[in-house]
Amino acid sequence: MSLPIVEAAYKKEKPETEQIPFGRTFTDHMFVMDYEEGKGWHKPRIVPYEPLTLDPAAMIFHYGQTVFEGLKAYRTDDGRVLLFRPEKNFERLNLSGDRLSIPPVDEDEVLGYLKELVALEKDWVPEFEGTSLYIRPFIIATEPSLAVAPSKSYKLMIIMSPVGPYFSGGIKPVTINVEDQFTRAVKGGTGMAKTAGNYSSGYQAQAKAAKEGNADVLWLDGVEKRYIEEVGSMNIFFKIDGEIVTPALSGSILQGITRTSIIEVLKKWEIPVTERRISIEELYEAYEQGKLEEAFGTGTAAVISPVGELNWLGKKMVINDHEIGALSQELYDTITGIQRGRKEDSFGWTIEV
Ligand code: COI
Repeated sequence: MSLPIVEAAYKKEKPETEQIPFGRTFTDHMFVMDYEEGKGWHKPRIVPYEPLTLDPAAMIFHYGQTVFEGLKAYRTDDGRVLLFRPEKNFERLNLSGDRLSIPPVDEDEVLGYLKELVALEKDWVPEFEGTSLYIRPFIIATEPSLAVAPSKSYKLMIIMSPVGPYFSGGIKPVTINVEDQFTRAVKGGTGMAKTAGNYSSGYQAQAKAAKEGNADVLWLDGVEKRYIEEVGSMNIFFKIDGEIVTPALSGSILQGITRTSIIEVLKKWEIPVTERRISIEELYEAYEQGKLEEAFGTGTAAVISPVGELNWLGKKMVINDHEIGALSQELYDTITGIQRGRKEDSFGWTIEV
């Protein structure tokens, strides 16, 4: 079944460069679907990208009942358009939604709608090296009410934005501050959900880190401030004495789709990879012993971002001399190669639109 489409009267100019700032330009159309209690999700449609009209009492504005996702469409060298494991995003959207008391969507149905939207906006998928079309599905609570209770109505929307590299230096190793004061999440909270408050509550730490030249924040567990969790915009991996270690999903860490994919690739390559608790003290000790060989973040927006320096309580860990490590580079080439159709997709992760 095809979606009803209201065509945009005007078509915007598309960026003609590989330096496209993250999330600033949006395509001509967006997807919208409504939910009402008793009626369920209904009225899926594609409409021109335009501002919304919402009641000032809409519950999203007051108690933050919202969840979101991030995935990308990639242009292959022969002009095709590929999505990378999109079904995982809708699975996670429902997981986050469950935590925020938002009614689930039919994952297959919404994936079908996404494919229609991407097909319509195909020309917006940039072809330059390191670029892609970032896709942001999100759900907001729309019921006009100040009651502290789940909304009885919602909107699911999908907007899309052509993007370049997430960090302005591209794949150059980034410097990250290990946050020792603020907390991102605790077990039993919303850390595993992709929800707005997890991000805005990190802005103060981000600003503090940026003041000292750091591109992002590495979060420690909220109780003991010892165990490594994740970076503001990505999951984190370390190569310590030949072994790859990433923090185990503890309930307060986001279950990254790139994270899962990297673990699967490493297992296929028979490189030892362990998901476990790792403390910042253990990491620093490994660094002092010369065993911290590489560090990299993983995420849809960040792809694979090598970490060249970690700052923790005035101590500096310079990793691999601020150079991208051999394994980080190989993983980057493999993942982006699969995403852009340049390497064989032996995992069956891509879907052509
Ligand atoms: C993503 O990687 O898609 C994210 O959602 C991270 C960030 C831009 C919020």
